Amino acid sequence: MIRLQQVSKIYSLGHVEVPALDRVTLAVEPGEFVALVGPSGCGKSTLLNLMAGIDRPTSGEVWLERERLDCLSDERLARLRRTQIGIVYQFFNLLPTLTAKENVALPLLLDGRRRGEVEQRVERGLQRVGLTRRAEHWPHELSGGEQQRVAIARAIVAGPRVVLADEPTGNLDSVAGGAVLDLLEELHREQGQTIVLATHSPEAVKRAGRVVHLRDGRLEEF
Ligand SMILES: Nc1ncnc2c1ncn2[C@@H]1O[C@H](COP(=O)(O)OP(=O)(O)OP(=O)(O)O)[C@@H](O)[C@H]1O
Ligand SMILES: [Mg+2]
Repeated sequence: MIRLQQVSKIYSLGHVEVPALDRVTLAVEPGEFVALVGPSGCGKSTLLNLMAGIDRPTSGEVWLERERLDCLSDERLARLRRTQIGIVYQFFNLLPTLTAKENVALPLLLDGRRRGEVEQRVERGLQRVGLTRRAEHWPHELSGGEQQRVAIARAIVAGPRVVLADEPTGNLDSVAGGAVLDLLEELHREQGQTIVLATHSPEAVKRAGRVVHLRDGRLEEF
């Protein structure tokens, strides 16, 4: 599903070079639920951003099925992110001026889908995360856990091939975090959704089928 081949990422800050990933080779199979763990600064977010096509590697190859992301144009990558890749962030990243429903609809509208399809998918998405009754609420009227569930609905609304989550429970208490993990686990179990989740939470690691350890930008083998 996702394949990284000898991927390195070096950030350049003026004259200083910050190595974030060092020749990482990793394959995620369709339907896998992978937890990405390691100390702060080890490169987890960098790795997810490369898988999401948000960032490009300094060297190496990033594949999503048959497409080589590091070679695609910005436009193709943006389209891919609207349709094939669902992304969930620690701080939810909902747009404050849109309702829950409008936030979920956004990737579909940007993708030019018809209104009927958008409405149907948004309804199903909000239903899936148990927030049908919150559809018309603004983000500031929702709890952190609810905001994250809206963000998950937005991530899955287009039926993506993979869901990438960067510390999705990092800003939630254990109950709300548990509900978010339950949801991700259900998507994995019931729909065979491929999930890669970066986390510091032992509770989240327990849900994963495989744990990948990063340290100083390198994969640790066990
Ligand atoms: N945009 C950037 N510019 C420069 N350096 C960066 C940038 N993003 C990340 N880095 C550096 O790359 C390294 C890896 O960072 P990354 O954010 O991937 O770590 P992380 O494992 O996600 O950490 P955390 O657990 O704290 O989120 C760090 O040394 C970080 O300082
Ligand atoms: Mg991070």
